[in-house]
Amino acid sequence: MKVPYAYGSSMDRVSKGFRDALIERREDVFRVCRDLPAGWGKYDLEIGCGHGHFLAAYAEAHPERYCIGIDIAGGRLERARRKSERAGLKNIAWIRAEALLFLECLPETISFSRVFILFPDPWPKKRHHKHRLVQTGFMDFLSSVCRPGATLYFRTDNSDYAKHAGDAIAGSGAWEERPTEVWPWERASVFQELAEEYQSLVARKCAPQGRAEVCVRPGSQIPQSRRRQGPF
Ligand SMILES: C[S@@+](CC[C@H](N)C(=O)[O-])C[C@H]1O[C@@H](n2cnc3c(N)ncnc32)[C@H](O)[C@@H]1O
Repeated sequence: MKVPYAYGSSMDRVSKGFRDALIERREDVFRVCRDLPAGWGKYDLEIGCGHGHFLAAYAEAHPERYCIGIDIAGGRLERARRKSERAGLKNIAWIRAEALLFLECLPETISFSRVFILFPDPWPKKRHHKHRLVQTGFMDFLSSVCRPGATLYFRTDNSDYAKHAGDAIAGSGAWEERPTEVWPWERASVFQELAEEYQSLVARKCAPQGRAEVCVRPGSQIPQSRRRQGPF
């Protein structure tokens, strides 16, 4: 059976096999997250890191920061892992996980200073916009695993998604857009190299510290949180 990555779907509408696979998947991610090293001064995250082109180079340039790259595509992460091993990096982890599931499994000892979302899947058709990663609920939840003053760096070659992301950030209230803020570091990701043009957005967390009690799936209702209760 194909292991599902979509998280947060209504559990009463799925088959037992699907549900068991989701639970197993969640337990795996929970275990991997529990083994992440504590005690680094700064943690940075890339969501949808693909082949790890950007993050491996970023980690090498910032040895004092601990970097985590997550993606749902195992093959891409394998290539990312090989890159960081070749470079001998000790300050990076690659995790195969869907974004919300990862954020939910993250231990309280880790809060992010910088989050990068580079060329997320654009879901260009209007009826598919609900599948876009950046939504107001997602931004609220993301803020709860970030330090006060944390920064989000978002980049896309889809102008409609750029507007959608700006609206989602404005709607969340936990972030404020910083139109004049420059990126701390630049390296073209694989998708950036392919893009003819792109738009960037920077947002600063303005909400107080504190983990959210709810978890949301892009475009769906807010399900009951199981946060901090460990695996099922
Ligand atoms: C268009 S690619 C961009 C990859 C890379 N950031 C770049 O710029 O080259 C989008 C990536 O996001 C991953 N992805 C899509 N939805 C995701 C989700 N919900 N959680 C984690 N990763 C996701 C995909 O597997 C894919 O590798």
